[in-house]
Amino acid sequence: MERPLMPGGTIGILGGGQLGRMSALAARRLGYKVRTFDPSAGACAAAIADEHVTAEWSDTAALTRFAQGCGRITLEFENIPPATVEFVAQSVPSHPSAQVLATCQNRRREKEFLRAAGIPCARFAVVASLAELQAAVPTIGFPCVLKTADFGYDGKGQVKLPTAEADLAEAWAKIGGALGVLEAWVPYQLEISVLVARTVDGRTAVYEAAENSHRNHILHLSISPARITAATAAEARAVALGIAEKIGLVGLLAVEMFVQDGRIIVNELAPRPHNSGHQTFDDLWKNGLEPDWTKVLTDPSAKLHLYDKGKAAPGRKMGHVTVTAPTREEALHRAEGLFAALSA
Ligand SMILES: Nc1ncnc2c1ncn2[C@@H]1O[C@H](COP(=O)(O)OP(=O)(O)O)[C@@H](O)[C@H]1O
Ligand SMILES: [Mg+2]
Repeated sequence: MERPLMPGGTIGILGGGQLGRMSALAARRLGYKVRTFDPSAGACAAAIADEHVTAEWSDTAALTRFAQGCGRITLEFENIPPATVEFVAQSVPSHPSAQVLATCQNRRREKEFLRAAGIPCARFAVVASLAELQAAVPTIGFPCVLKTADFGYDGKGQVKLPTAEADLAEAWAKIGGALGVLEAWVPYQLEISVLVARTVDGRTAVYEAAENSHRNHILHLSISPARITAATAAEARAVALGIAEKIGLVGLLAVEMFVQDGRIIVNELAPRPHNSGHQTFDDLWKNGLEPDWTKVLTDPSAKLHLYDKGKAAPGRKMGHVTVTAPTREEALHRAEGLFAALSA
């Protein structure tokens, strides 16, 4: 059995984005050393790490250098080739495993895992050609959504098919003619996410569900705890725990879910930290100009987190603000006020 890595040890993080940056900050606070690996030299987690390795995911010489001296390796980005994790895992215990990553990063494997595990998810069909899409549509019904099996994020690689008038050939072309998953549209009332962590010996921690709303497919606001009943919240936690156990998770997993009439329907799995863990604002940089942060800095209920990513671009996750208050309603009201003031 793997022994716990004690403070003073080095945690290697594959990926150098804002999730890695925040993980690195948390690890450092606990006294760990941090090493990051990313194809970009300017990755924003690198500034927090003791060492940063810039190399491609397939560069085994660089991965060997990176792994040497790490006590544990984890990841903060979902689209890392599983072979990369497999490679470093030969010399250093690495979590989540290449297998968990492979299941979560591909919608086909993800959905097939959920279905086989008996976890409620949207009705779906795997489609490998336009003819298969045409054949699957009547079985799934409208509205539905066609998603690429690989490399989808922030709503990229998906097309909604609202009615029978939808142009299937166009939709097929839009997802690049790659393997796809056709999903029934879920008429949900809320989107929530639950973070679950599991140790090598099977101990788990599960967090309160956060309620998420998106703008332009990017997380805009997370409210925690979510505005759901205690029974729904308990079901959400139980579903997340069940997934962690059935998938054999070691490490961290975010489970995105829909709430429809009080019931949980699982949407996606992300075996890593999650933006709903810290409430993300975006798109405040008008014409590339930095917003006036004094509005946030002078509000004692608000905390500003900036990722030091350099140049802003529409949709780029640059930072977030957390607001805490005695009630959820007050926190929401203040957050909306700050967002309005920053957008002005
Ligand atoms: N089957 C569905 N029914 C209803 N809404 C959906 C469905 N699939 C996706 N969505 C909406 O699109 C968003 C992005 O889809 P998702 O599958 O989470 O992809 P990603 O987050 O990887 O871009 C979801 O958060 C949800 O708002
Ligand atoms: Mg998602």
